Amino acid sequence: MAGIVTFDELGGVGLVSIDNPPVNAISHSVRRALVDVIARAEENPRIKTLLITSDAGLFSAGADITEFDRPPGEPRFEQVQTMMESSPIAVVAAIPGLALGGGLELAMACHYRLAHKNAKLGMPEITLGIIPGAGGTQRLPRLVGARAALNMILSGTPISALEAKVNGLLDEVAEGDLRAAALSFCERLVREGLGPRPTCHRTVRDGLEESEIASVLLRHARALKGRTTQLLVIEAIEASRLPFPQGIAIEAALARKSLLSRESLALRHVFFAERESGKPSPASPVDAQRAQPPAIGRVAVIGAGTMGSGIAIAFADAGLEVLLHDNDPASLVRSREFVNSTYASSVSRGRVIRSVADERMRRIRSAPTLGEVADADLVIEAVFEDMELKKNVLSQLDSILPPERLIATNTSTLSVTELARATAHPGRVLGLHFFVPAQASRLLEIVRTVDSSRESLSIAFRVAKLLKKAAVVSGDAFGFIGNRMMLDGYFREAELLLLEGASMTQVDAALENFGFAMGPQRVSDLGGNDVGTKARVQLFRRESRPDPYFAIADRLTEMGRLGQKTGLGFYRYENGSREAVPDPEVIRLIEKLAADRGIRRREINDQEIVERCILSLINVGAMVLEEGVAARARDIDVVWTSGYGFPRHLGGPMFYADTLGLPQVLERVRHYYEKLGYYWRPAPLIERLAAADSSFEQWDRTGASR
Ligand code: CAA
Repeated sequence: MAGIVTFDELGGVGLVSIDNPPVNAISHSVRRALVDVIARAEENPRIKTLLITSDAGLFSAGADITEFDRPPGEPRFEQVQTMMESSPIAVVAAIPGLALGGGLELAMACHYRLAHKNAKLGMPEITLGIIPGAGGTQRLPRLVGARAALNMILSGTPISALEAKVNGLLDEVAEGDLRAAALSFCERLVREGLGPRPTCHRTVRDGLEESEIASVLLRHARALKGRTTQLLVIEAIEASRLPFPQGIAIEAALARKSLLSRESLALRHVFFAERESGKPSPASPVDAQRAQPPAIGRVAVIGAGTMGSGIAIAFADAGLEVLLHDNDPASLVRSREFVNSTYASSVSRGRVIRSVADERMRRIRSAPTLGEVADADLVIEAVFEDMELKKNVLSQLDSILPPERLIATNTSTLSVTELARATAHPGRVLGLHFFVPAQASRLLEIVRTVDSSRESLSIAFRVAKLLKKAAVVSGDAFGFIGNRMMLDGYFREAELLLLEGASMTQVDAALENFGFAMGPQRVSDLGGNDVGTKARVQLFRRESRPDPYFAIADRLTEMGRLGQKTGLGFYRYENGSREAVPDPEVIRLIEKLAADRGIRRREINDQEIVERCILSLINVGAMVLEEGVAARARDIDVVWTSGYGFPRHLGGPMFYADTLGLPQVLERVRHYYEKLGYYWRPAPLIERLAAADSSFEQWDRTGASR
């Protein structure tokens, strides 16, 4: 492909520049082009050093993930690296920005490396369920030592250029013009007679002791739950003590194994699903790609409660100016305290340096009058969850803002359509459903109504991108995507299981062992049982539906057992600790509620707990899909993996259903339908897909033709 890798001769330097948008992935075409230019350079007697770099702002985001399911094709990655490493002329990598995975592995096969001071270098393969398979587990330990390599690969988090210089990964860090620094580095190599220096000729300076492996595993135990890639990484790094050809052969076998694992399929599914959900679906009437959203520089947030303040922090973190309005001056004062303490805590945890935190805090300004927000590029309403109050705020905003500005409501329970229609321009109103804590939670549900304009959606996608959140479009319906599935599926079953005889610790532990970060009762206690009760009351009222499921949680709210914040909830939390201790009072309460309802309690095993909570989630997910509330099954997977703690390595509930097989899912759902009653009615979509031996993945693929 023309131009994907360019070659110039500058003095005695062969300048190779990778240009493969959007992220310089080392695709098959890039590999082919690299081999061509290296061969040309080696044949040219004037060229004394080869400089591999890019003008794209980043070096490379790694191997091309879209090619993983195809045979690699010649030249394979290791052939390019061998050619570079065994080249008779010195090969230098100049890294302008990100160098990830295969990108860093390419750089490590160069003889020398330098990077701009803002560059980041990392091995994120673990997040895709694979081990670095282009020599990363063999060359990285040779450069930085086995222990540092293990930590870098298991964490998946990039390190800064300065750290990389200290640990031996880089030879030099350039403060200013990287190209100039790299050219003078090349000149120096020639001047000082420094030639090729293959990484593969080095030996690893430290080894991994048993105790170290144990402590590393312990440190990564949470991520390890049910996963195997970490163990393969350890095995591969241990092989780096062997001669390079042996080590690389072991790495290749382990990399193949990881690539074929379910875990990797699931994690790659989530990776692409997140990127796809942040764009309009092909079936959507809204082509947000074509619409050119205006730039967003200043945002206004109305309502300075916890949610409004969290949203303000999220925007300030993303570099935007924020105006925070509340008509109660005391709320603005409390919000300022909240913002200050949130940043103070980020500084003390080392997440951000003091000067950056100060700069971000300065970006948030109080706006005592609503009129001050008139020139904001976007306004988010986050006032108390009350229909009349919100309608009033939205219609005031509508009258003071120019008609093309987006007005978003952060409601989680009310009809966005009804709120939008309280304004004269319902097309510019949609929902932006943030999750607590808004500044940290990865998920953003974009709630569109039938009136929402293409421009509004387009701006909403841009907002999500600015905030680095996983965006999913939801229809305006009961609970949107996530809360509907939680209430009508997952949490409902968790409550019923308690009434039928399971203990709280058993339910939580079973789901945590399945891979959830936290079991459902611990989640309720963390979020506040009162918050859950209030939301359910609003939601079920919206639908004029009875709520027969949440007797325990609602009773706990009545008793003032609101969760961690009151020290008592489903569990007891002693002396401000976060440790959840079972409480005999709640056990007695559950037994009484079960007796009142004539439920005969019984022994329930962990398998039933997991099966009921997950299958109900899948069943409701299928309804949400068929009703068009979610456009794609993979959108549901993004909602649940980014916002509700569903294990990413299982790909989300709908992907997981496909791996179980829909006929099998249907059989078990029918089993519970017969045993437990109407609320287990199988989703018609599952019945149809199972009968056709199809899958949710297939349903997504044929979406455009529906
Ligand atoms: N291969 C193919 N496509 C990739 C890619 C990769 N390694 N990394 C990103 N992309 C694509 C995305 O799918 C997206 O495509 P669309 O626009 O079509 O949706 C596009 O590049 C832009 O990506 P983002 O939307 O994520 O852009 P961003 O600016 O928010 O983030 C990034 C950029 C930090 C590089 C992020 O994309 C990322 O983390 N990428 C994955 C990095 C990674 O995991 N690398 C390891 C690859 S595996 C490997 O290298 C194996 C090996 O050992 C040989």
